[in-house]
Amino acid sequence: MKPIIAPSLLSADFGNLHRDCLLLNDSEADWFHIDIMDGLFVPNISFGFPVLKSIQHVATKPMDVHLMIVEPDRYLETFKEYGAWQISVHIEACTHLHRTIQKIKSLGVKAGVAVNPHTSVTLLEDIIGELDLVILMSVNPGFGGQKFIERTYEKTARLKELILKNNASCLIEIDGGVNIQNAPLLLKAGADALVAGNFVFSSSNPLQTITALKSIV
Ligand code: DX5
Ligand code: ZN
Repeated sequence: MKPIIAPSLLSADFGNLHRDCLLLNDSEADWFHIDIMDGLFVPNISFGFPVLKSIQHVATKPMDVHLMIVEPDRYLETFKEYGAWQISVHIEACTHLHRTIQKIKSLGVKAGVAVNPHTSVTLLEDIIGELDLVILMSVNPGFGGQKFIERTYEKTARLKELILKNNASCLIEIDGGVNIQNAPLLLKAGADALVAGNFVFSSSNPLQTITALKSIV
C-alpha cells in the first residue's frame, strides 16, 4: 500500500501561504498536516484560527490537525468549525484522554493521539481500540527542521504490534525529521502516514519531493 503523505504547513512560506496550499492541492499529498502550538505545551507559537480559516478556504484535501496545546478540550468544536477532518491531541497534555477522544469523535471528526519521544506506546494499550490515528513524534515537538530520533523505528514496530494484538484499526503517523532516507525504514516498521515539513518545503522542487515520498514501496 502506498504511504499517506502529509506535508506540514509549518515549513511553508507564510508570505505565500495561498500559493503553498495550491501546491499541495496539485501534488500527490494526501493530507494537509497542520501544527498548532500554544507556547505552553511546546516552546513555540505557530498560528491560530485566522490562518486556519485561510487554509480551510483553499485546501481540497483533508486537514490533519496536530494540537500541541494544553487543555485542548476548550477548542475542539472551533477546530472542527475551521475545517479539521482529523484532530490529534497529545497524551502528555490530556488528564482525561478517553473523554477527550470521545468528544472529538462525537463531533464527527477523526481522533488521534500524539506521543512524545519519551512516552512509551504501552500507555496506549487501553485506548488503542478507540483511535483512528497515533502520531509518533520522532523529534521533540515545537519546531520544524529538527533531527530525526533513531529510536522511532523500534517504537513504530512496537506500536504496530500493539495495534495488531488488539485488533485495532488505527493508523501510525510519523512526525519529525522525516526524509527520503528514513521513510522506507519507517514504512517497513509499520508506519502508514509520514509528515514532512522541512524536507518538502526546503527542497528545490516540493512537488517532486512529495511524489518521491509517495512512490516509496
Ligand atoms: C513538530 C511538528 C511537525 C513539524 C515537522 O513539532 O509537529 O509536524 O512541522 O517538521 P519537519 O518535517 O521539518 O521535522
Ligand atoms: Zn505535527
